[in-house]
Amino acid sequence: MGDLERISISLEKPLSAKLAKLLKQTKYSNRSEFIRDLVRDKLVERAWESDEEALGTITLVYDHHKRNLTEKLTGLQHDFHHAVMATTHVHLDHDLCAEMIMVRGKASLIRALADALGKQKGVYHAKLSLSTTGRKSA
Ligand code: NI
Repeated sequence: MGDLERISISLEKPLSAKLAKLLKQTKYSNRSEFIRDLVRDKLVERAWESDEEALGTITLVYDHHKRNLTEKLTGLQHDFHHAVMATTHVHLDHDLCAEMIMVRGKASLIRALADALGKQKGVYHAKLSLSTTGRKSA
């Protein structure tokens, strides 16, 4: 952590009480840590909007028996090969596969890949989790 700047914030009492309750329910040991994470989350959202460089994980759960699905999912990842850094495949049971795809690139590009993967027939669940490097995309 860099140099710290102390700031004070004002909250309505009911909201402050809710914050205190939230801190108890979550991993946060203090309010500063909580506010820092809120700010970081907001920065990630802004990166989405401004199309800055983002990184994330696309998690897929799908039925590998579905005709041509495995080939389609692999083909899409090849179409976006500049954005795909790594893929981990897990055989969940006889039918189901899980795939975690680590991606990096413009937020809009990552979103396009996640959408394309998620809409294939036989994909039961697709979830994109996004983070940011905090840098402008090249
Ligand atoms: Ni599998």
